[in-house]
Amino acid sequence: MERIRQQIDSIVRFLEPNMGFINCHMVDYLTEQHWKQYVPKAIRGELETCEDYLQAKEVFWGQFNQTQSYHKHLPGVTEFITAASRYRLGGSEVQDTALSLEQFKEALTSCRKETRLKMTELMNVKKCHEVEIAAAVVASLCTAMASSLTEGTLEDVVVIDAGDGKGYLSSRIALEHGIKVLGIDCNEENTSNAEKRRDRLKKKIPKAVKKSQLEEDEHFRKLDSLYKTTTQLIDFDSNLIELASAHFPGGHRSTFCLCGLHTCGNLGPNCLRLFHQNPTIKGICNVGCCYHLMQEEFIVDEFYNPTKVSDNPGYGFPMSSYLRARRFALGRNARNLAAESIERACANRENPSDKLGHRALLQVIFVECGEKRSHQVGRLKSDGFVDYVRKSVRRLGLAERVTITDESLLELEARFQVELEQLKVFYLIRQQFAPVVETLILLDRLLYLRESGYERSFLVKLFEPVVSPRCYSLIAMKY
Ligand SMILES: C[S@@+](CC[C@H](N)C(=O)[O-])C[C@H]1O[C@@H](n2cnc3c(N)ncnc32)[C@H](O)[C@@H]1O
Repeated sequence: MERIRQQIDSIVRFLEPNMGFINCHMVDYLTEQHWKQYVPKAIRGELETCEDYLQAKEVFWGQFNQTQSYHKHLPGVTEFITAASRYRLGGSEVQDTALSLEQFKEALTSCRKETRLKMTELMNVKKCHEVEIAAAVVASLCTAMASSLTEGTLEDVVVIDAGDGKGYLSSRIALEHGIKVLGIDCNEENTSNAEKRRDRLKKKIPKAVKKSQLEEDEHFRKLDSLYKTTTQLIDFDSNLIELASAHFPGGHRSTFCLCGLHTCGNLGPNCLRLFHQNPTIKGICNVGCCYHLMQEEFIVDEFYNPTKVSDNPGYGFPMSSYLRARRFALGRNARNLAAESIERACANRENPSDKLGHRALLQVIFVECGEKRSHQVGRLKSDGFVDYVRKSVRRLGLAERVTITDESLLELEARFQVELEQLKVFYLIRQQFAPVVETLILLDRLLYLRESGYERSFLVKLFEPVVSPRCYSLIAMKY
């Protein structure tokens, strides 16, 4: 626990002087001179022309490429990337806290389950990757839980999938590992889609078993009785024993494994709290997502939307008493950033969207027109800057106030050409903080579990980040 606290301290020390940078709005990039205000001097000194910006982007995109020799004339950029990478899971300041999937499997020894069924149907590549790995991990966890029950077997364990969605993970746990799963989702349409998918999946089983060169196993044919769904809101009053008995009659159902794949916003933290509060939940495997939807305890969200968090009330960050005692706050943009993936952005050489620049330029126009209020344009399909401005002002009801001609707009865009390229590099510089913020969120969750007395709680890197960016899972057992 002490080591996790030290790692949190070290990340907080790194983040704190940069919180303004991390939380700044790209909208104000030009009007508030973000480049000058936030970018370290060493980087500003070496990046001045469009050519420099293009080279800097290459350095950012190549950061995971072992064979890349960093551009020697951009030492400031290189040093910045190296410094930030120390504070990610696996970096020199946060070493040995997250387990690799292999390490976790080794620790499970005799309880270890593997995916044998080749069944890629009805899932995209990302989901398939996640499901194959997570189903085996949850099954291993259930096996470990069952082995610790006096006179209990895997038959007595029920998996609850919190936020089941279309039932990708839950149906595979039931189908491949013969474990009872109750998929719970608060959205009726999701439950109905999960049931339709289950029916389609059943038809695909014989072919998949054959393709995987497996013996016809009894539970491959029992998907209906092993995988059940229900539309419910999971909260602290959910009576899992009653729910499980209603869906799986017969037998005493009192040992649960709570799993959740991409439990968005506060649902992830609430699942961890549920694990702690409910003695019948003996194991948990939780992968979070959508950190921007979490509510924070120590900062008021300027774009707070109560309808978005009503399903999962409470605070998602911080969870540990250590960070709560410090009243630590991230801020909305920091949480937005944490949901980005630099691994994927680099693998795909993702160029930040032109729309960021268009919005920043529109802000220049607003300021010139004396428009003081801050406006949220939102997502918009547009063809070039002029079209973007026309559509935005129409959407905001400002067409009468913003009367600038097309010609002047094009002139403005040309005048800021260099700054618009610079803005893209700024975006990539700020993106370096993304995994650092996510690391802090994950360490806080792990520390919460350790503080709550669960020695056997782990952070495990389940997925390949380029395929599935939210790749870390919190896994814990109660014995
Ligand atoms: C990001 S989706 C993930 C779906 C699925 N697990 C997957 O990986 O494809 C999150 C799901 O959680 C559901 N959800 C959110 N809060 C919930 C709650 N408190 N109880 C039950 N379901 C919830 C949403 O309706 C949504 O289907």
